[in-house]
Amino acid sequence: MSPQTGQVLIFDTTLRDGEQSPGCSMTREEKLRVARALAELGVDVIEAGFPAASRGDWESVNAVAREVQGPVICGLARCNRDDIDRAAKALRDAERRRIHVFLATSAIHRQYKLNMAREEIVRSAVDGVRMAREHCEDVEFSPEDASRTELEFVAQVVEAVIEAGATTVNIPDTVGYTVPDEFAELFRYLRRNVRGIEGVRLSVHCHDDLGMAVANSLTAVVAGARQIECTINGIGERAGNCSLEEVVMALRTREGFFGLRTGVQTTRLYPVSRLVSSITGMPIPRNKAVVGENAFAHESGIHQHGMLKHHSTYEIMRPEDVGLSRSHLVLGKHSGRHALRERVKDLGFELDEIEFNRVFEDFKLLADRKKELFDGDIEALVLRLEGHAAGPWTLGKLRTVSDDRVAAEAELRLHHRDGRVIEHCTTGDGPVDAAFKAIEAATGIQVALRKFDLHSVSGGEDAQGEAVVYVEHGGRSYRGSSVSTNIVESAVQAFLEVINRIELAKSLPGRAREEQPGVRDIAQAAV
Ligand code: KIV
Ligand code: ZN
Repeated sequence: MSPQTGQVLIFDTTLRDGEQSPGCSMTREEKLRVARALAELGVDVIEAGFPAASRGDWESVNAVAREVQGPVICGLARCNRDDIDRAAKALRDAERRRIHVFLATSAIHRQYKLNMAREEIVRSAVDGVRMAREHCEDVEFSPEDASRTELEFVAQVVEAVIEAGATTVNIPDTVGYTVPDEFAELFRYLRRNVRGIEGVRLSVHCHDDLGMAVANSLTAVVAGARQIECTINGIGERAGNCSLEEVVMALRTREGFFGLRTGVQTTRLYPVSRLVSSITGMPIPRNKAVVGENAFAHESGIHQHGMLKHHSTYEIMRPEDVGLSRSHLVLGKHSGRHALRERVKDLGFELDEIEFNRVFEDFKLLADRKKELFDGDIEALVLRLEGHAAGPWTLGKLRTVSDDRVAAEAELRLHHRDGRVIEHCTTGDGPVDAAFKAIEAATGIQVALRKFDLHSVSGGEDAQGEAVVYVEHGGRSYRGSSVSTNIVESAVQAFLEVINRIELAKSLPGRAREEQPGVRDIAQAAV
């Protein structure tokens, strides 16, 4: 394998490293939706989870292994028999599978985390790879915190695991500490000093603590790595991982420099990015490279003038290349099914007839409230098709009053599926707080509000606001979201969604309870 030729494999770890980050947890059903979207996107490997972390994780990896074809499905394991056996079992039905074993190698981790000497690390890494090879021919090994490990020791571990049968060796910058020149040197050092390294695929895994995950991954590729580990929207531990859309578009846009290709269908990047954002409730910053709202917006007069002459003056990628065929045409209440269908397709969504009909009904209702509907509005309609908790409580009436002299007041009426109708009126610190308190009093469910996000999903004076609410109740965390032209209503509907999830969880048997979207065991989330 010589540098600057061939293909770079894209190893997506959104469902493992991405899902590990606070606020990004997903249920099994949500993970399956993301895994299917990743397969359509054309990634080479999906790291579906860490099967030994919890029963929920094991089941998610198992479901992805059974139901998602195309990419290699991978499961993470520590270097011990139990983890590896569980990973192997979870992956047994996959068309193509990989076990990814890891063990920290840096002096800091050896001393403070593992309390293991160098020789024990080498022995344990070799044993881990051998055990994984008993189950599977495709085995990846990662020396965790490699970028802070003594060079000759990383080389010693890498040589030993290659001899033991590792087929991919991944070099992680676990804490996002390295810089491009230094990291490239690590790859060159390993390629010069490790026997057998030419026979395995070298991989890179970077975190973004200093904002260099993409740059460090690309420099590793120049120095010989042929697999990049990354996540959609760069979600992941702390500041996140290398962002898939950025690294893929860098390789494509600068193909003349890198001389390398990926198998990713770049026109699927934007829809997958929106899907992951909507499922995790993690908004995409407006100025995010490649998929942010402003990534292709030109504001300055000079730039606009240049763009009118030729797009290449200020645009190095075309929005269509990443699946962002944003239109300046707005839709409104006179737009018909055909116009909506075309726009939904342009935005990268494929809906069957039943789904489309539901979106069309919601579109008509929204068009009665909002003069112009932008692409963000249409996306919000499509993305809320799945995963929302229906009932038992629905909002009948909502009235809020607030002024700066007296406490805000919220009066609401809730209907329960069992026929109960409850009205409540409460005061609070602002209309949203008052409405949340009224819902708690009416339903008898008390929660601890952990986070409340509000952002607009589209443009115009009557833009829709998306509210995302995170609460804790009875040792579990719950997420709810809603979109409306009225931001208080949007907040109230999002809050009502978490109340519905809580009530639903109480009525479900254990197993089904764990599979509810937007619900996560707090102890499990901490693994
Ligand atoms: O960041 C890291 O080191 C990891 C390993 C498990 C590859 O995520
Ligand atoms: Zn990581």
